[in-house]
Amino acid sequence: MKEELEILETATNQTLHGEDNKTTTTDTHTGKQRKLYIESYGCQMNFADSEIVAAVMMENGYDTTSDFSQADVVFLNTCSIRDNAEQRIRARLKQINAVKREKNNMTVGVLGCMAERLKSQLLDQEKVVDLVAGPDSYRDIANLVAQVDEGHRAINVYLSREETYADITPLRLDSNGVTAYITIMRGCDNMCSFCVVPFTRGRERSRDADSIVKEAQDLFEKGYREVTLLGQNVDSYKWQSNDGVQQVNFAQLLEKVALVHHDLRVRFCTSHPKDITDEVLYTIKNHENICNYIHLPVQSGNTRILELMNRTYTREWYMNRIDAIKNIIGDDCGISTDIITGFCSETEEEHQDTLSMLEYAKYDYAYMFSYSERPNTPAAKKLKDDISDAVKKRRLNEVQQKLNDISLVRNKSDIGKTYKVLIEGFSKRSDADLYGRTSHNKMVIFPKQNFVKGQYVNVLITDCSKATLLGKDV
Ligand code: 5AD
Ligand code: SF4
Repeated sequence: MKEELEILETATNQTLHGEDNKTTTTDTHTGKQRKLYIESYGCQMNFADSEIVAAVMMENGYDTTSDFSQADVVFLNTCSIRDNAEQRIRARLKQINAVKREKNNMTVGVLGCMAERLKSQLLDQEKVVDLVAGPDSYRDIANLVAQVDEGHRAINVYLSREETYADITPLRLDSNGVTAYITIMRGCDNMCSFCVVPFTRGRERSRDADSIVKEAQDLFEKGYREVTLLGQNVDSYKWQSNDGVQQVNFAQLLEKVALVHHDLRVRFCTSHPKDITDEVLYTIKNHENICNYIHLPVQSGNTRILELMNRTYTREWYMNRIDAIKNIIGDDCGISTDIITGFCSETEEEHQDTLSMLEYAKYDYAYMFSYSERPNTPAAKKLKDDISDAVKKRRLNEVQQKLNDISLVRNKSDIGKTYKVLIEGFSKRSDADLYGRTSHNKMVIFPKQNFVKGQYVNVLITDCSKATLLGKDV
């Protein structure tokens, strides 16, 4: 049973930018003339963007379909974070174009980071798409489709300094009706040397706080019980009302959303170690419905490598932030991280520093990657990608192994404890079981009894696997 549970976990444990994730559209039937199919790759931000795109397209005469061969318009919302993400999308474009050749009228578009990174390449040189739309062009998406219908080239890769889509209510796709994402900011100003995001998503900008609170209220009224506030670097959220009266930082925004209703759980992703403040930690501590869970990417445990990565903190600074989390919120706060192995010039000793950081932070979960050089990033321009694939992979395996050992110990320490779980749906394995998550973001599976999705239930933990807890209600 435990192995099967792990399959379920990978399907639901989404990272902010893991290229392994993919979701498709669900069907809507509102009597519209044309059909849209969207497939989203990569981070939660992309999934949230697809919901904006679907909302705009619905306004313009489209229903969504879950079968791409039935669609008039097929969009792939893409990810560029690592090379294999892009390879996967190219393979998918081949399959879609094979179906398109059999159908007369199908428009194929590429959206998101790969559209922004490659600009007109997929349209003009490779000729594998009809339409290219970068992350800040989605208000224009129906016009772009209309241009294709009229036989024109359609591309918009303009990056904005202001666009936040604040006034567009997302069309919730692939939703369990309990948990939803709310985008609170876009872009990133950090310039980590390995990262393509600042080039594909542009400058950082924060969304109107009132519109965020309103979206949370609407979701609560529709029965949702958890929102995740999304941004590349949520701790640098900063918004000021036009009259200058309201100034809102991230801790204040968290509090405003938490006050929408005590039964609405609030999560957020992603924090940056250089920016996460004690004020945020105290805000989490002071509100029961702000989840005790922080995703705090470390990338490397070695100060020299962190400097080459331009992460702007040291090993000691990061450890201090972990201490602050444990001191202010407590040992029960879930912590996860992102790690890159085999970054330029990383020595075995420096890799050991990453392994010892896992021990220090006692992560519940980590998203681990081997370094993939991305064209035109500062690292690609200035540093040599000189660690062999074999060494990168071996280091990655060592990190994964250590993380497994640590998180199993963490999970075992949950046995015998009782947690408040928000029910998200049926266990994939059996309709006799439900699954949900604790505040510290652990997946829990327990017998259904008379409980339903969207309810809170207290569950006594009786057993565990690598990343899932098993229990029974008390
Ligand atoms: N190679 C490998 N991993 C990367 N990430 C970002 N850029 C790269 C890259 N070029 C990882 C980082 C980041 C996560 C979202 O993806 O760990 O936190
Ligand atoms: Fe990329 Fe760094 Fe920005 Fe994250 S914080 S999106 S890793 S540049």
